Order: sequence, then C-alpha cells, then structure tokens
Amino acid sequence: MHKPVIAILLAGGTGQRFGHETPKQYMPLGGKMIIDHALNALQSNPRIDEVIIVIAQGQTIPYPHFKHVIGGKTRRESVYNALQAITLKDASVLIHDSARPFLYQDSLDRLIDAHAGQHAASLSIPVVDTLRHHNGETVPRDNLQHIQTPQIFDLHTLKKAHETVTENVTDDAALMHAHGCDVLYIQGDQRNFKITTESDYRMAQQIIGADIRVGNGYDVHAIDTHKSYVTLCGITFDNNFGLTGHSDADVGLHALTDAIYGACGAGDIGRHFPPSDMQWKDADSAQFLTHAIQTANQMGGRLNHVDITLICEAPKLKPHYDAMKQRLAQLIQLDVSRIGLKATTSEQLGFTGRGEGIAAQATATVVF
Ligand code: CTP
Ligand code: MG
Repeated sequence: MHKPVIAILLAGGTGQRFGHETPKQYMPLGGKMIIDHALNALQSNPRIDEVIIVIAQGQTIPYPHFKHVIGGKTRRESVYNALQAITLKDASVLIHDSARPFLYQDSLDRLIDAHAGQHAASLSIPVVDTLRHHNGETVPRDNLQHIQTPQIFDLHTLKKAHETVTENVTDDAALMHAHGCDVLYIQGDQRNFKITTESDYRMAQQIIGADIRVGNGYDVHAIDTHKSYVTLCGITFDNNFGLTGHSDADVGLHALTDAIYGACGAGDIGRHFPPSDMQWKDADSAQFLTHAIQTANQMGGRLNHVDITLICEAPKLKPHYDAMKQRLAQLIQLDVSRIGLKATTSEQLGFTGRGEGIAAQATATVVF
C-alpha cells in the first residue's frame, strides 16, 4: 500500500550566522525568495503528498494555501512541532531546510527510493578537503561526510526518537542514531549546499546567474522656433530653436527614463510625473531619470548600460557628445564606457526630416 510522504520545510530559523535583519530563507535569489526554490523542488515531486511549512513566531505566512506550523527555539523543536501537526498514523516524513535552494529531483528520488517506506535515509556528500584541528592534528577524512537535507524517516520511529533522545543534535538523522536506528546515507549533490553565511549567499547568486532585463524608451518633442537654446541629454546649449514641452523637454533623458522604467516593469514617465501636474512645469528632467534609477534600485536592480539615439537633422550633435556623456555618467553613476550615445538624421524624411521635432530612443540594461 502507498505510504504517504509528508514533507516538512523548515523556515523557523532567524539566520544568526548570516547576520541580516531578514531571515536568510526570505532573501531574494533569482527573482524569487530562497525558500521558494526549496518549496518548488518539493512541490514538483509527484511522490510527495503534502508539504508543511514551519515558520518562526511572528513571521508572516508566505504561502497561505499550505499548512503552517510555528517553530521552536531550535531546529529540533521546529521539527517536533511539525510532527505534532501530522494526524496520519502511518506516513513517511521528509525534512528539508528552506536554506537549501538547489535540491535537484534526482537527489530527491534517490532518497525516496532508498527509504522505500521504512529505512531512515539522508543525503550526504564526501568531505574532500583536508580536516585539521587548530592544534595541528589532522583528522582522517576517509569516512567523513557532509550531512545534507532532505532526510526521510518513518513517522512513528522519528516521533519516538524525538520523545526519547535528550542529546543536543542539529539534524534528525543524528537523533535516529542516538535512538539506536541505522541511517542510510545516499549520494547527495554539492550544489545542494546550505546557505549559512554571506559568502554562501553570493555563491548561490552566482549559480543562479544574473537576471538581466532590457527596457526601451521612445520620445518626441516638437520644435519651438521662439527659443534660442535646447536641452538634450542633460546639457543646455545655444541653438536657433528649442523644443516645446511641459518640462525642460529633454527628449534624450525622457527616452532613457522610460527605458529604465521599462526594464523594471514600472510604468512610464507620464505615470510618475503627469504633465497635468504644475509642479513639473519647466522641471529639470534629471530628476525624472534619478527617480527611475531609484525605482530600479528599490526593486533590487542595478543599471548596467544605456544606449541613446537622437534623431534629428539639426542641431549637429557631434560637438556636444563629450559633454553629454560626461553629464549622463554623472547622472546615472556609470562609467562613460557603459553609455552609448549616437545621433542620426532621417534623410529629410518624416517629421524629424522636415525639422518639426526631435525624436529619441533608448535602451537600458538593468541587472537584478
Ligand atoms: N530552523 C528552524 N527553526 C529553528 C532553527 C532553524 O526551522 N529554530 C531551520 C532554518 O530556517 C533552516 C534550517 O532549519 O532552514 C537549518 O538551520 P540553520 O542553517 O541553522 O538556520 P538558522 O538557524 O536560521 O541560522 P543560524 O543557525 O545561523 O541562526
Ligand atoms: Mg541554526
């Protein structure tokens, strides 16, 4: 008969060694939280019938549709509380740390196969580094393993072990040993490491790879022949015409600002700074750009590269390129090597060709 497999996902810790205010399992990783990756691995395995999530007292429940249990002061207490919430008489219990985001299905399957409804089993990987005490004594590593999770047990036996063993332990397989039970150790995966410190977190981010998003922006402003200066890409210079607009009409900065909002899925410049609002009358467009960058930063993104093309027959922009690039570099806090700036005519075709307006298009790359 099929014995149900109940997974317990442990997220009741506060991550003291990690040292952030946010418990490590809720830190972002690849556009999700660390715990999301662990939960996804458990949920994706058809042999797991239910997942119970253990959270710390006072934490908000991240997944309202899963059963939640409030954890205890130690990992052991957290597991114990979850075991109390299982009402089934006979089940297999699979326990996993939410701080291990890289659990692959082949490891999970190997573990469940080894358990086959009765044996206690745990993933582990051999120790490969030399081990030495600070006093110089080297510890033979031949039979040493790094113990990982998930681990899997018969519900009844694990409950008994929790109720009888008094020793301090950091995993459930240790409890089983102390209870006089054998544990099968199954080949784990080095990638299934536990995020404990800041450098583990950096390694996890490297494995996931950067989340790179590219946005584009486009803007047009009409020519105003009554003006004798124009503002483009943050610099103002004398010219025999200007541009009309509610703000300073900096078409280049507007296209760039929209490109950054675009990369973040954060609307457009008109939404953040409505032209109907008098406070933006004659405004310096640098503040719109700064707001877009702040929006990206607040979402965990970092502007990495921009590319702007201005489309007009006049004025000639080449003499202004250096000043524009310097100003852009200052505004967006990027090296000039990460700023593309170009101009093109449109062969006297269309509204830009007839000198009725100036258009600009831009792309922005934001790395999350
Ligand atoms: N855990 C838990 N309840 C506790 C302590 C730990 O559910 N009282 C969970 C953690 O959330 C983590 C797993 O057990 O997913 C492994 O524990 P550990 O890496 O030690 O996490 P923390 O206890 O949060 O970290 P630290 O020991 O650095 O404080
Ligand atoms: Mg801990």
